[in-house]
Amino acid sequence: MGRKLVAGNWKMNGTNADLKEIEALGIAWAAPRVDIVICPPATLVSRMAFALGGQPIRVGGQDCHAEESGAHTGDISAEMLKDAGARYVIVGHSERRADHHETDEMVRAKAEAAHKAGLTAIICLGESLEQREAGETLDVVGRQLAASLPDGATASNTVVAYEPIWAIGTGKVPSVEQIAEVHGALRAGLAERFAGEADGIRLLYGGSVKPDNAAEIFGVENVDGALVGGASLKSTDFSPIVSALE
Ligand code: G3P
Repeated sequence: MGRKLVAGNWKMNGTNADLKEIEALGIAWAAPRVDIVICPPATLVSRMAFALGGQPIRVGGQDCHAEESGAHTGDISAEMLKDAGARYVIVGHSERRADHHETDEMVRAKAEAAHKAGLTAIICLGESLEQREAGETLDVVGRQLAASLPDGATASNTVVAYEPIWAIGTGKVPSVEQIAEVHGALRAGLAERFAGEADGIRLLYGGSVKPDNAAEIFGVENVDGALVGGASLKSTDFSPIVSALE
């Protein structure tokens, strides 16, 4: 198993004034023992990468188009993110699956584009409350895993984030047993398909990760880090989460 990873997803938040949060993080984490990534809105990717300079904190996009270039008004390609200084890109977040009708097939094509551009894809999946209550969680995430990951997934180009939709931004978190069950099933699914790479593909938990629950979540088997939303916006919230993983 390689280094653990904490990624912050700023979603549609942040302006130039918020780059001060990154400066504070850079000072706090000059030599982290874990990988740290911040995914700001596209407008800040380049500025943030520049602000971080040679520091070990990486920048990621929140989405990319599946094609390299062309007539797709408002979209951004993986190559463009790479050119702007990104090393990672989130694909298949449930908010994009819902707001932009993204299917597993589209997510897989985006992850392939990310790989082609030399980016690490953070591929998101997770069940709705309705699916959880119907006892369908493992079927749902198993299907999403199989259909959203490209054949070329490796430990270095792919990260999987389990984000139960009902836990995102709600303050509700699954029990450690529930997280362990899903992460165990995801690891087994990876092992079936990617053999030697499976143990190295990092499995992040995402959904209301906060400074006060991070240590407990990081103690769960097969949890290799977190994808953090709201608590990634302020360095004073994000830093203790990184500390809990170190
Ligand atoms: O991608 C991160 C995410 O969806 C979780 O958001 O605000 O519940 O940490 P939050």
